[in-house]
Amino acid sequence: MAKSIQMDKLRLGVCYYPEHWTEELWSEDFRRMKEMNITVIRLAEFAWTILEPQEGCFDFSFFGRVMDLAHHYGLKVILGTPTATPPAWLTYKYPEVLNANVDGVIYRHGMRRHTNYSSPKYRELCERIVSKMVEAYRNHPTLIGWQIDNELNCQMDVFYAETDHIAFREWLQVRYGTLENLNKAWGTVFWSQTYTEWEQVYLTRTMVGMSPNPHLALDEKRFISDITISFAKLQADIIRELDPHHWVTTNGTFGHIDNHEMTDKLLDFFSYDSYPQFATIRVGDDENPLHDRAWSMKLSNVRSMSPNFCVMEQQSGPGGWVDGKAMGTPRPGQIRLWSYQSVLHGTDLLVYFRWRTATMGTELYWHGINDYHNEPNRRVREVAQIGEEFAKIGELIVGTTYRAEIAIMQDYDNSWDGELDQWHGPLNNQSVRSWYKQLQYRHLPTDMITLRPRTVLEDLRKYKAIVYPHPAIMTDETAALLQDFVEQGGMLFFGARTGYKNPSGHCYMRPFPGVVAELCGIKIDDFTLIKGNVLPAELSWKGSHLPSGTIAVGFNEILHAAKADVDIMAEYASEYYMGMPALSRRTVGQGQVWYYGAAYNEPVVDAILDEIGLKSPVAEYMDIPSEVELGIRYSQEKAYIFLLNYSDKQVTVNLRKPVVSLFDGSTIENNVTLNPYGVQILSS
Ligand code: GAL
Repeated sequence: MAKSIQMDKLRLGVCYYPEHWTEELWSEDFRRMKEMNITVIRLAEFAWTILEPQEGCFDFSFFGRVMDLAHHYGLKVILGTPTATPPAWLTYKYPEVLNANVDGVIYRHGMRRHTNYSSPKYRELCERIVSKMVEAYRNHPTLIGWQIDNELNCQMDVFYAETDHIAFREWLQVRYGTLENLNKAWGTVFWSQTYTEWEQVYLTRTMVGMSPNPHLALDEKRFISDITISFAKLQADIIRELDPHHWVTTNGTFGHIDNHEMTDKLLDFFSYDSYPQFATIRVGDDENPLHDRAWSMKLSNVRSMSPNFCVMEQQSGPGGWVDGKAMGTPRPGQIRLWSYQSVLHGTDLLVYFRWRTATMGTELYWHGINDYHNEPNRRVREVAQIGEEFAKIGELIVGTTYRAEIAIMQDYDNSWDGELDQWHGPLNNQSVRSWYKQLQYRHLPTDMITLRPRTVLEDLRKYKAIVYPHPAIMTDETAALLQDFVEQGGMLFFGARTGYKNPSGHCYMRPFPGVVAELCGIKIDDFTLIKGNVLPAELSWKGSHLPSGTIAVGFNEILHAAKADVDIMAEYASEYYMGMPALSRRTVGQGQVWYYGAAYNEPVVDAILDEIGLKSPVAEYMDIPSEVELGIRYSQEKAYIFLLNYSDKQVTVNLRKPVVSLFDGSTIENNVTLNPYGVQILSS
């Protein structure tokens, strides 16, 4: 059963901080929200000091008044539990709740997320404030749901307080039972690291070269994920018990947390915070980058947890902290574009961050819809337009879901192991980015999926093709599952460094590519990391339009066909391994498995897509320029086609059959014109 939000129509909401404003402003704010078709507000997620100004003294009157007024204006309320920002009295009296860095230096009060999840005291105080809060507000008629904490593991996703080391040992005892097993799993015989007492075991600490035991480093991330989820579970359990009638969610995807597991275990649905303008401050050296469109990949990952979800924070102005995390202003139309980007990928409740820009504090420049002066501005007008549109289309779109024929697959173990292991980690970003870009530019709707211990064939079989680029860690069981997928007709794509590590991160004593060598019908004779003056080889692909000079980036593995039914699709065209196989394809049962001995770059992805002939679902009747994202939300009977123009130019989509615009009901023939940053939703 999909863990989706259940809405009656698409709705708009806004994050509201009544504690930042004088009370006289509230009524006017709420009146204007209603005017803009904003019907939901999120409150209180940082307000612990208001709710518990002194230890054990609770006061729920402030938000009670806000909620009464919201009720008067017909607004609904999401309440955030305030555990991301403990009060000063708390951290002063109980310094053991504070997180520490790898050197054991304590993070002090004054920012947020400065606590650890393992301190029994912090857990106790969090349980108490959450229980009291739920008891105070659960019967309020405005309440629709709860957000646990705020952005778990944002800002900080490693934890080295005293209590974390203790909790890690306990976690290891459950996982391994004996020190002997632990020593084996961590390969401690290497460099005399063998532990003889549990007390000798620590999370990463300062060490020579800052290069921890890699198997410990992987377990550390698994531990952080588990303890983060257990912290969220404390809260979820309380809410479920005291207030079983409202939904429970949490927001944002951050490091070292298995969000899929958390969603399954404790949430009604997952929520995401979408700030596509981050793309403008993280420009790498990527050619023809996706920029803000890359956020569709993140939203697609959220979709894999909850096909219909909530965006709890949608960017509605330039972002910026005092300390320089600063961004440009969204250009006219971009707030609307980003809002529909979220909707395309499954958002049914879209909550803007935030109603008005704060006039004080760290986020002085993190702009909301309204400016400090509160006079009408173009962002208010843009959101009001979206409000009008939601009123028209909201009942049609709600509950419909995105569909794709191709998926890019990842898993948590490999992502976490790849943070330290430079022999496979960096390859994944390169390959995922290249595939996602080309799929976007070719208008092939794409899912981002996560392979999990509970993944079964049925989860995979709905795809024609799955790209699983560099899963270094893989078991024979997973290889068998993937083999079933291929045999039953799937196309599967691997890249360099697949299948050579076990779940502890030890290398198998088997020829590369380890557990998938049989399936792919190849062996890897020789290989090199591409780094420094070790340059990538050129590639040649017989009979294809691979541009000359295309190189095999990241890693070069020299393939060798071990079975007669393996087709060599491309060879290296330079270096000492010139003429040797670089890319193989093998037909297995009804499907195909491809192995590429490098990281994927765009020309290679392009050539593969030409070869396999996957087509956009609207290819028969629409020619779409590459600047435009295509995606479709389906109901049982209907398909709603989204066209999102990410460019600052007007573009035209040519039609070979008439379509109907959902925004105004008009029939469009011949071509659809999209303004700069323009959006259309069509049915055919
Ligand atoms: C989010 C966070 C918000 C706000 C926003 C802008 O990560 O949840 O509370 O800080 O970023 O910085």
